Amino acid sequence: MEEIESDVVVIGAGASGLTAADALVAEGFDVVVLEARDRVGGRLWTREIEGAVLELGGQWVSPDQTALIALLERLGLETYERYREGQAVYVGASGVPARFERDFPVAASTQQAIEALVAEVDRLVAETDVRAPWTHPRAAELDAISWQAWLASQTDDVEARAIVSLFIAEAMLTKPASAFSLLQALQMAGSAGSFSNLVDDEFILDKRVVGGLQQVPLQLAAGLGDRVRLGQPVRTVVWDDDSVVVSTDTLRVHARRAVVAVPPNLYGRLTFAPALPAAQQQLHQHLSLGLVIKVHAVYDRPFWRDAGLSGTGFGPGLALHEAYDNTYAGSEGGTLVGFVSDTKADALLLLDAETRRERLLGCLATYFGPEALTPRVYYESDWASEEWTRGAYAASFDLGGLSRWGSLLRATVGPLHWSTSDVAAEGFQHVDGAIRMGQETAAAVGPGGGGGGRRGTPPPPPRAAAPGGGGGGAHPAPPHPNRGALNTRAGGPPAPAKVSMPSSA
Ligand code: FDA
Repeated sequence: MEEIESDVVVIGAGASGLTAADALVAEGFDVVVLEARDRVGGRLWTREIEGAVLELGGQWVSPDQTALIALLERLGLETYERYREGQAVYVGASGVPARFERDFPVAASTQQAIEALVAEVDRLVAETDVRAPWTHPRAAELDAISWQAWLASQTDDVEARAIVSLFIAEAMLTKPASAFSLLQALQMAGSAGSFSNLVDDEFILDKRVVGGLQQVPLQLAAGLGDRVRLGQPVRTVVWDDDSVVVSTDTLRVHARRAVVAVPPNLYGRLTFAPALPAAQQQLHQHLSLGLVIKVHAVYDRPFWRDAGLSGTGFGPGLALHEAYDNTYAGSEGGTLVGFVSDTKADALLLLDAETRRERLLGCLATYFGPEALTPRVYYESDWASEEWTRGAYAASFDLGGLSRWGSLLRATVGPLHWSTSDVAAEGFQHVDGAIRMGQETAAAVGPGGGGGGRRGTPPPPPRAAAPGGGGGGAHPAPPHPNRGALNTRAGGPPAPAKVSMPSSA
């Protein structure tokens, strides 16, 4: 077993863990990053498949994502606009495709109902603190009604409900609208600035990164050099108030602080000793990842553009509920991407691969015509089958969870800090939120945060949970069985400040 001493150990080399590590190294901390996979990036993964460059996970950048945009600029990464000229296609209950530009091609009364719903959600979002939705005066009430039931309470217009529901259910949380609360929906919308932003695909799916969004973790990891250890799934986390020992099958890292930068559905894969406080254990069981399959179809040319179509399609009743032109910058052909969520994904995953492909290409053909049936390359990103993710896009609470446990989402437990897009406020579920959490975590661990992250600094006093606030409270550690042994390692003179590696930007 290799033994390493470090100021901070980071578990997980996704965007969040690497951002935290990068910031801590810049402050002169010793950092080790342990990653289970044989690559960095987690839910960001750019691959060449049969000659086509595909972004299998996260890819889009929107104007509100200022933490991500600033990091892209720092790393010197260029962006390009998604192709969006021409008309979009809507497939309603009739199953007949209809072209449109700005407003959905629905009856005037349905359009009015959609606008009224969007305005009402915007109003509720404006009175909800995105950093602490549980402080809303009616938090428990808003958290007790499902998104589906609330929409039904607002309008009898079934089509308006299906369209508005889609923007949070299928398209964001990737769970059935009956499975999460109105409060969780408000937090999702608030994390993007407003519900109007979320329903505006021009806004939310604005830009992509040349070379793929995985460039961000790849470049951060390059700057961290051999501090990043791949193929090291963490198994155990032994902790007390001011130290932690994190073990993989072949490595043991002794540190002052651990940044747990894995999605919350995987916390249960780690054995904590002592066990986490009861409220944390409950919280983690009520946060689950949604389910979405990202479907890529690459053609010799973007044939839909010839017909004046942008490649954007919406069909709340179709298996593939949304589709976009996803042609990679500079590539010769044309690429469509589509998404299948929640119960529709359940059903499709039961089919054999060939039948599923036929069904999904059939949806693309409904939107854009029969040429969609014969792509040159076809690929399904199935993150639910990935051992170190197990769902997509990210985690959200089931009914009642956000008001009950939300204040503990980002609360430290002894030397353990949680850092992932799944627990973010602004940028929740997105790379922007992963980066914000990495920065916040590094600030909490670092010198200004009183987090006692450097060996030789006194441990921080236990902090009380911030009153109703941003979930930045803390659980002190219970007495630790191996405390003496850990304390001898954690003491001693301050570690010499390391010269920070230049980022590869
Ligand atoms: P992430 O899951 O990326 O990283 C966690 C890391 O921990 C992984 O590398 C994992 O292997 C590792 N790990 C897990 N258990 C471990 C253990 N026991 N020991 C060691 N390592 C362990 N966002 C966006 O902004 N725009 C978009 O367009 C999209 N689209 C999108 C599509 C699809 C299909 C997906 C799956 C996701 C998106 N997203 C997105 C979401 C975005 O990709 C996501 O929020 C962030 O990449 C999450 O980054 P984190 O670092 O928080 O977790």
